[in-house]
Amino acid sequence: MEKLVIEGGTPLSGTVAVNGAKNAAVAILPATVLINGKCRIDNLPNISDIKLCCEILKDLGAEINFISDEEIEIDCTNINKTEVPFEITRKFRASYYFIGSLLSRFKQAKVGSPGGCNFGSRPIDQHIKGFELLGATVESEGGVITADTEGLIGNRVYFDIVSVGATINVMLAATLAEGTTVIENAAKEPHVVDLANFLNTMGADIRGAGTDIIKITGVPELTGGSTYSIVPDQIEAGTYMIAAAASRGNVTITNCITKHLDSISAKLIEMGISVVENDDGDEITVSCTERPTKASIKTMPYPGFPTDMQPQAGVLFSISDGTSYITEGVFDSRFQYTDELNKLGANIKVNGKTAVFEGVPSLTGCPVTACDLRAGAALIIAGIAAQGTTEVYGIEYVDRGYQHIEEKFNKLGAKIKRVIVD
Ligand code: EPZ
Repeated sequence: MEKLVIEGGTPLSGTVAVNGAKNAAVAILPATVLINGKCRIDNLPNISDIKLCCEILKDLGAEINFISDEEIEIDCTNINKTEVPFEITRKFRASYYFIGSLLSRFKQAKVGSPGGCNFGSRPIDQHIKGFELLGATVESEGGVITADTEGLIGNRVYFDIVSVGATINVMLAATLAEGTTVIENAAKEPHVVDLANFLNTMGADIRGAGTDIIKITGVPELTGGSTYSIVPDQIEAGTYMIAAAASRGNVTITNCITKHLDSISAKLIEMGISVVENDDGDEITVSCTERPTKASIKTMPYPGFPTDMQPQAGVLFSISDGTSYITEGVFDSRFQYTDELNKLGANIKVNGKTAVFEGVPSLTGCPVTACDLRAGAALIIAGIAAQGTTEVYGIEYVDRGYQHIEEKFNKLGAKIKRVIVD
């Protein structure tokens, strides 16, 4: 186990480059199962969820060659298994994408239930609805999801709720199905688009990703043979944007796609924070010299304000001038981090799906514990902004989604040390 020890109070300044998107990479790696051949993927983030995907692929029989920390070559031609054990699927959420990809190529899958951050109930009924509409029989019991089919047939799938995971899983299943699938009420996140682009690069026929109607015309097989570069991480970029603002700093984030950050930029500008994009749309500079003013957010599916930026926004609201509000519009409960911020001197009250932030002039460092990936990132931002020393426990959550987070922050002037605790 490890913790980060943060000496706070230093405004961040300088330039930081964003890595490839975790939530795109954890969909694209399982998607390589569909390919009867080799492919190369680069701009992969070097994070623990990627290592888990590679562990599963190797166990299934794929050959993986690491060209570098961020580029790999994968050959799934000789995959000889369609089972993924619970011991590994329980460690992260995206393990469930192996259901869609194994079912699509091998007409069967037996995959342990997924893990992932605890935001209350996270059912997979829409995934199952989609698989069944395509002609699969799906059983979910004893911590294992079993799916099989005589052959998947394209169909219309109208989701009852906008779901990133279900959109991705049904896209994977439909890619090699016979006929055409139309997904309606689809998720529009950048990582959904990135998966569609990857699959099309490898020979699929997917139209409309990024809108709420996605049309997938099944093809007999994917032959691969290309290299694909993962889209920059919208949430990592947003995390550094908010860290710049919360520390009253001046930071340029590079290797990003500013269009994906519009909801975050708009909110920061509303709070009196300077946000400047470059003409090429791949760099954004955030600077803050005055105390931000209050604001309100309701998290929504893309292009709304991302739920994965909610804890980070909560830190900024905690030290802004006035009363701010966050309503969590995607998950049942995603405010566990506010108890930790209150230990640092914030004044937050949670009432169901809404949190009320009475802004305080500053936070004061103390030991806190991360309860999930983005909450961990938020507590690091809080420690950087706070006066004094903050110790953030539960860093294993953060390592799931951020590559070398303390190194990147220290290059911007933060004072963070990673310490092993027993
Ligand atoms: C993905 O989770 C992301 N994870 C999450 O990011 C992100 O918070 C979430 O999308 C929303 O953007 C990955 O991509 C690996 P959903 P997912 O299905 O797919 C309900 C991070 O920090 N729902 O879009 O699980 C669900 O309970 C992580 O990187 C059903 O009811 O999210 C939730 O309330 C945290 N039935 C809402 O839909 C279903 O079958 C949205 O969930 C599926 C979902």
